[in-house]
Amino acid sequence: MPEEDLVLAERDGPVAIARLNRPDARNALSRDLMERLTWLVEEWDADPGIRCIVIAGGDEYFAAGADIKGMLERSFQESMTHPTASYWPRLWGCKTPMIAAVSGYALGGGCELALLCDMIVASENAEFGQPEITLGIIPGAGGTQRLTRVIGKQRAMELVLTGRRMRAAEAHAAGIVNHVVKPGESLEKAIELAEVVARRPPIAVRLGKQAVQAADETPLTAGLAHERRLYELAMATEDRVEGMKAFIEKRRPQFRGR
Ligand code: CAA
Repeated sequence: MPEEDLVLAERDGPVAIARLNRPDARNALSRDLMERLTWLVEEWDADPGIRCIVIAGGDEYFAAGADIKGMLERSFQESMTHPTASYWPRLWGCKTPMIAAVSGYALGGGCELALLCDMIVASENAEFGQPEITLGIIPGAGGTQRLTRVIGKQRAMELVLTGRRMRAAEAHAAGIVNHVVKPGESLEKAIELAEVVARRPPIAVRLGKQAVQAADETPLTAGLAHERRLYELAMATEDRVEGMKAFIEKRRPQFRGR
């Protein structure tokens, strides 16, 4: 299968859609798949016409995690230098908002990929989990860190130490998932959400993403100071003048990304 088939790229106006497409391996995140996904996301992030990115899988599986077959023979030394480690920080560095459309299994690296996204829309049949412990390893792409920050230590500990899966309703109650929809509707709902983000002023959207991302990494006083600087940057944009004028003049704003 040619490399580009591993992740199908679609464009719907200002929304770009990456569809993981390795059905025979339940969308396991092989090196080639991660390379293609990261390449696509970076291309889109550099394109000012793209305002939001959706990452989706198939109807029965979002992604079954890292490629276990590719990992079996990997030595300790090889895992220290394996390129897959670099894809995660590169995806996290994407300034364009990313929404995961999760249907079916999001396990291991699949759950971590969804958690790396800024929002998650899940089908009722979605299942999230970190089953690495059953393989003799632990999550290596954020499953102990991002998951814990979202759902708290006790709940994350149970998932990481037992490998138990959470269904969509539980994941929603735990704060992982933004919206739960009927099976087959997660991509449509994710695109709908992406279209709303895409209509917002793009500089302010990027600043908002940066500010919320920083909340996990900074103590409160430093985070508030950082937020204030980003807010001041937003105040310097032409779009905020347009947004405020449009409100006062009772009309739709025409944002230009300036
Ligand atoms: N890696 C490689 N191949 C995988 C895979 C994975 N993560 N998950 C599934 N496959 C392959 C299976 O080996 C099988 O291949 P063959 O046809 O050659 O036998 C094929 O996909 C279909 O799999 P199943 O028959 O198991 O499909 P299913 O529908 O009955 O079950 C599933 C689906 C529940 C997702 C099950 O496949 C499963 O449990 N997969 C493994 C999940 C897992 O342990 N993920 C963690 C990986 S480690 C990790 O992610 C580390 C990290 O932090 C980055």
